[in-house]
Amino acid sequence: MTVDSPRIPPEQQIAAIVAAHGADPTRLLAMLRATQAASGRVGGAEIDALAAALGIPRVRVESTASFYHLLHARPHGAYEILFSDNVVDRFAGKDELLSYLCEQLWVEPGKLSEDGLVYIDSTSDTGMGDHAPAALVNGRALPALNKNRLDLVAGLIRERRPLADWPPMLFDVALNVRKGGPLLAEPFAPGAALARAAALGPEGVLAELDAANLRGRGGAGYKAAWKWASCRKAQGKARYVICNADEGEPGTFKDRVLLQAQPDLVVEGMTIAGLVLGARRGFIYLRGEYLYLLDALEAVLARRRAAGLLGARILGTPGADFDIEIALGAGAYVCGEESALIESLEGKPGKPRNRPPYPDRSGFLGEPTLVNNVESFACAARIVERGAAWFAAIGTEQSAGTKLVSVSGDCRHPGTYEYPFGVTIRQVLADWGFDSDRIDALMACGAVRQR
Ligand SMILES: Cc1cc2nc3c(=O)[nH]c(=O)nc-3n(C[C@H](O)[C@H](O)[C@H](O)COP(=O)(O)O)c2cc1C
Repeated sequence: MTVDSPRIPPEQQIAAIVAAHGADPTRLLAMLRATQAASGRVGGAEIDALAAALGIPRVRVESTASFYHLLHARPHGAYEILFSDNVVDRFAGKDELLSYLCEQLWVEPGKLSEDGLVYIDSTSDTGMGDHAPAALVNGRALPALNKNRLDLVAGLIRERRPLADWPPMLFDVALNVRKGGPLLAEPFAPGAALARAAALGPEGVLAELDAANLRGRGGAGYKAAWKWASCRKAQGKARYVICNADEGEPGTFKDRVLLQAQPDLVVEGMTIAGLVLGARRGFIYLRGEYLYLLDALEAVLARRRAAGLLGARILGTPGADFDIEIALGAGAYVCGEESALIESLEGKPGKPRNRPPYPDRSGFLGEPTLVNNVESFACAARIVERGAAWFAAIGTEQSAGTKLVSVSGDCRHPGTYEYPFGVTIRQVLADWGFDSDRIDALMACGAVRQR
């Protein structure tokens, strides 16, 4: 709820929110987020109204609402400030800054101020390690905090200035790409990979991915070509493509940087997957803490639809229909796990499913679903654009291509680095700003064991 939200009875607000989401219960999480933005909380009255408007059991709404830590049953006032809390934020002075802001605004951490205006607390790592200490204000990223910035924030809150009128520099998230490569730094012409995919055909695209030896960048390292081929073959009424942008591992932020630096590359990888698999719907599951990326990503999708690169008749081809929606998370680390993510996308608490079956057979709404990481989709687009041989020649025989690395904490040069697989640890530590004496010491004591 903002300082100038009109007072509309919750039932009326909620009926409008439910209608705006097509009264589709799989979109419950989005409705809960919208409800909280409108009425300042998702408490008993809001839950009753949502359950009634959707015609689903109350317990279903309540179990989803109570699962996500960015949703709250009690009001958090017109300004909710949540300080990112991980070791890097603490190292950069987060605890001191949180106390400082509380003193400035006469509020205790975790308690709504007496005038109902402001709530200040800590939250899990918000994915801004290279801009620590960071916070969220009403869900929007406030990077690189210090006392001067917090004085400004406190003044704006005392004046009850709406967020839309806050100085934009408070929200600027610098890219901090310290070392770029084909994913982060080299220009990409939207449509270039799609045009080559059309020329190759679905089997040709799968053969390129296979020959490139692309392995998933989300952690498990599963071969992308196998997953795409298995999902393409699986029987179902519909197929779906999901980009996993939940990135909740403390200290990681490389997917955020890639989505900010090269959104077209990621979306083009997803679109190629959609056409190869015969899917018509795709989702970017964006972690709630990355709300600040939402408008820019929606603009990219709109631009691509207008250019014939997304939506109906992609590249003017009849039947080549695939579109993408962005689904925001609401704070739950476990939703990075693909089956928990799918549960969340269905409007449920993000609890992992028993596997098998894996999502490529039974995923979103029980249908064949491809889930890949943000970086995996960007790699796929580059492979299709430039060819498998180009990709396989980067890195090592076992691990082809480049890898994005998020660096923050006790180092001189925090940011995102793109390295070919096989780079030496010595090189990496030197890039991050470690002196050679310190690198030698780390190696000598066994803290760093590789080359
Ligand atoms: C607890 C947990 C958290 C995870 N978090 C993420 C995540 O934030 N992003 C991601 O892409 N994969 C994450 N994964 C892995 C996904 O389940 C899945 O393997 C991955 O999205 C597949 O994409 P890929 O094949 O492109 O790597 C997580 C797995 C577990 C068990």
